[in-house]
Amino acid sequence: MTRVLVTGCAGFIGSHLTEGLLKNNYDVIGVDNFSDYYPRKLKEENLSNVLKNENFNFIEADLIDIDLNGLVEKVDYIIHEAAQPGVRKSWGNEFEIYLNNNVLLTQKLLEACKGKKVSKFVFASSSSVYGDSELPMKETSSLRPLSPYGTSKLACESLCYLYWKSYGIPVVSLRYFTVYGRRQRPDMAFHRFIKAILNKSEITVFGNGLQKRDFTHVTDIVGATVSAMEKGVEGEVYNIGGGSTIRLIDAIRKIEEITGNEAKINYLEDQKGDMRYTYADISKARKSIGYSPAIKLDEGLKDEIDWLKLLMT
Ligand SMILES: NC(=O)c1ccc[n+]([C@@H]2O[C@H](COP(=O)([O-])OP(=O)(O)OC[C@H]3O[C@@H](n4cnc5c(N)ncnc54)[C@H](O)[C@@H]3O)[C@@H](O)[C@H]2O)c1
Repeated sequence: MTRVLVTGCAGFIGSHLTEGLLKNNYDVIGVDNFSDYYPRKLKEENLSNVLKNENFNFIEADLIDIDLNGLVEKVDYIIHEAAQPGVRKSWGNEFEIYLNNNVLLTQKLLEACKGKKVSKFVFASSSSVYGDSELPMKETSSLRPLSPYGTSKLACESLCYLYWKSYGIPVVSLRYFTVYGRRQRPDMAFHRFIKAILNKSEITVFGNGLQKRDFTHVTDIVGATVSAMEKGVEGEVYNIGGGSTIRLIDAIRKIEEITGNEAKINYLEDQKGDMRYTYADISKARKSIGYSPAIKLDEGLKDEIDWLKLLMT
């Protein structure tokens, strides 16, 4: 059986990915430390479907502290999702957490791959590495992150590249563009907006709501990540976006339509680190790994709303 290590398997994307891999007949070793970025209860719930699967082996541990050599020896592939996420919290003293869980952890994991049989190391990077880059963002566009979080992800990408160049570790980095869907992190915009609109409470929008985002459904992210693991070209970076953009305010209108409730919007100042626009050119991933996003925003939003309705009862 082919075995995959999924770091951050209890998180939003990691848990969907684990399910996707198991469905595709891979064995999965998942590691997560239930970091306190958001409640452990939600992460335990994320894992509840897969814990029963006999092809899934869960290890609760902080990857910074454990013997990564022993772990890496057991697997054929690595998908590295574990990280401290979130742009807004990455300033100030909190940056140390980003340095440890993003930069240092990625370096330790890459170091552990030296001399092992790992066939592919897929790194979950982010559109945050671009900053206010030209649109649509291409893999060759300038990289000037606007947040400490984006800087930490770019440092991880650089580490992946140099461990490939110097030690031949077969890395592929995927720049995910704002991911949404069931189990979305509670700090993310759609999750906050949907909950508040269902509750008929106020939502906070930073900026004027005209900022545009390229939203990617988590099902498409899982498909792209598994394809990159199976056929991504070593040393390469791929944009994984939803294929179109929408203004934040228009996405809120869609949530109003689906829920039948009106949004009460409180506009606040732009937050430092937030990007004005994100828009992925996905032609490279389309060509190289056959990526083709399938879930349209209306369908994906409806499903996330159904999930949150259940969660709130
Ligand atoms: N959600 C998005 O829109 C998005 C966009 C771009 C990139 N990404 C990247 O995708 C990955 C997954 O993001 P997510 O939204 O699912 O976040 P998440 O917080 O839901 O998942 C990350 C998981 O990693 C775990 N973790 C963190 N540090 C760890 C450590 N030291 N040891 C073991 N486990 C640890 C956390 O407990 C968490 O369960 C991250 O690398 C993130 O930077 C996410």
